[in-house]
Amino acid sequence: MFVCSNCQKTYSKWQGRCDSCGQWGTITEVASSGFQGKGKSKGKGKTGISNSIKPIRFIDLGKESSDKKQGTSNRQLVTGIHEFDNALGGRLVSGQVLLLSGAPGVGKSTLSAQITEAFSQKGLNVLYICGEESPDQIAHRVKRLGLKHENVSFLPETNMAEVESYVASNLDKVDVMFVDSIQTMYDPNLPSTSGSVSQISESTNRITNLAKGFGITTFIIGHITKAGDIAGPKVLEHMVDTVIYFEGDKRMEFRILRVEKNRYGPTDEVGLFRMSEKGLTEVKDTKELFDPNKSDAPGSVYSMVMEGTRPVVVEVQALASRSYFSNPRRTTSGFDLNRLFIILAIIEKKLKLNTGELDVYVNITGGIKVNDSGLDLAVIKAVISSIKNEIIPKTSIFFGEVGLTGEVRKIFLEDKRIKESKRLGFENIYSNKNMKRVV
Ligand code: TYD
Ligand code: MG
Repeated sequence: MFVCSNCQKTYSKWQGRCDSCGQWGTITEVASSGFQGKGKSKGKGKTGISNSIKPIRFIDLGKESSDKKQGTSNRQLVTGIHEFDNALGGRLVSGQVLLLSGAPGVGKSTLSAQITEAFSQKGLNVLYICGEESPDQIAHRVKRLGLKHENVSFLPETNMAEVESYVASNLDKVDVMFVDSIQTMYDPNLPSTSGSVSQISESTNRITNLAKGFGITTFIIGHITKAGDIAGPKVLEHMVDTVIYFEGDKRMEFRILRVEKNRYGPTDEVGLFRMSEKGLTEVKDTKELFDPNKSDAPGSVYSMVMEGTRPVVVEVQALASRSYFSNPRRTTSGFDLNRLFIILAIIEKKLKLNTGELDVYVNITGGIKVNDSGLDLAVIKAVISSIKNEIIPKTSIFFGEVGLTGEVRKIFLEDKRIKESKRLGFENIYSNKNMKRVV
C-alpha cells in the first residue's frame, strides 16, 4: 500500500499529491501488513480530520509563492513571439495552465514547438509529453523548423500516473510542460478509453494539480471537433486558467490565435500568423493577409472586420441556388447561422426578393470565425449578388450592422476600418457614413 509520510493517510495506488494534507511527493509505497493498515485507515476514516491544514495570511501571500521552483521567474515566461505574448497579456505566470485548442492540422504542434524553442533559449527546461506523435516524428519537425531545442526533453507517455511520478521526481528538469494532446492521456483505473469525457477531465484535473503544485507553466493541447467544441467536455475550460483557440483553414496560410478566457490577462487581443515552409511566422502588417485578386464572381464581397484592435479584410462568399428540398438549406461557415436567417428575412421583406425557394450558403474565406456585426452588410450584398447573378467590383468594400428595418447602423471603430480600406486601395467604401439603408 501507499502512505503519505506527512499525514499517514493510506492509498491503494500511488498518486502525486495527498488528498488529505495537500502535500506533493509525500506518498511512498510501504509493505502492507494488512491488519495494521486497516486499523489505521479506519481510525482516520472515522473523523477524517487532519491537523495539518492552515490558512494563509493575506500579507504573506506572494512572499513564498506556490512556485516551489527557483529561477522560473515570471519575467522569463515571455516567448519573444510578439503575436503570442501580446495576445496573452505580455507574459505567462508560473503554474499557469493554458489550453491550446484547434482543429487537427491547424498548427498546434508547430506553434508549441516554436514556443518550446523560445523557452528553451531562455534556459528553461521544457518537458514535452507526446502522446500523439513519437519523439522521432517531433524531432523531424523540430529540425525542419531549424530549432535547437537544447533544453527540451520528450516523454512518450500517456499514462497519467507515470507522468505524475516522473514529474514529481524530476522537478529540476521541468519548468514548462506541454501535453500533446489531452485526448491521448488516460488513467488506467478508469474504465473508459482515452479521449472519453471522463478520461479527459480526469487527466486535465491531474495535470492542473501538477502545474499548480509545482509551479510548472503547462500547455494542454486539445483537438476540437468540426462543430468547434473541444472534443470532450466544456468543463475543461473551467479547469484551466487560459483558453486559446487556434483557427484557420489548414489549406490556407492565415492563422488566428484567439484568447477566449484568461485569468492572468486580457481576452480582447488576438495573434495573427501565417503558416509557411518554416513554420508559423508573425503577421506584422495585416496588409499581408489581403489577397487583392479574389475571383470576380457573383456572390463574392469584401468586408473589414475587427480582430482584437486590428482591422482585417475578409472575403464573404454567398451562394443562393434553387432548392430541391422541402425545407431549403441554409448553411454558414465562419458566420452565425441565426444571423443569416435574419438577413434573409430582411432581403425578402425589404428587397422583395424571394428567398423561400433558395438554398443559401455563406462562407467567410480563410477558415476564420467572425463574430462582428459589421459583416451584416457584406453578407446581404453577397447574397443579393448571388441571387441576381451580378458581380460586385473588387474595388468595393462593405461593412455595417443591418437592423431589422433595413437600416445600416454605425459600427464599432468604423473610422479605423475606413482608414484601413483606403490604405489597401479600396475605391468604394460602403458603411453607415454613406449608406443609410440597404434599399
Ligand atoms: P501541426 O502543427 O502538426 O498541426 P496540429 O498539431 O494542430 O494537428 O501542423 C500540421 C500542418 O501544418 C501540416 O499539414 C503541415 C503544416 N506545416 C507547414 O505548412 N509548415 C511547417 O513548417 C510545419 C511544421 C507544418
Ligand atoms: Mg499535433
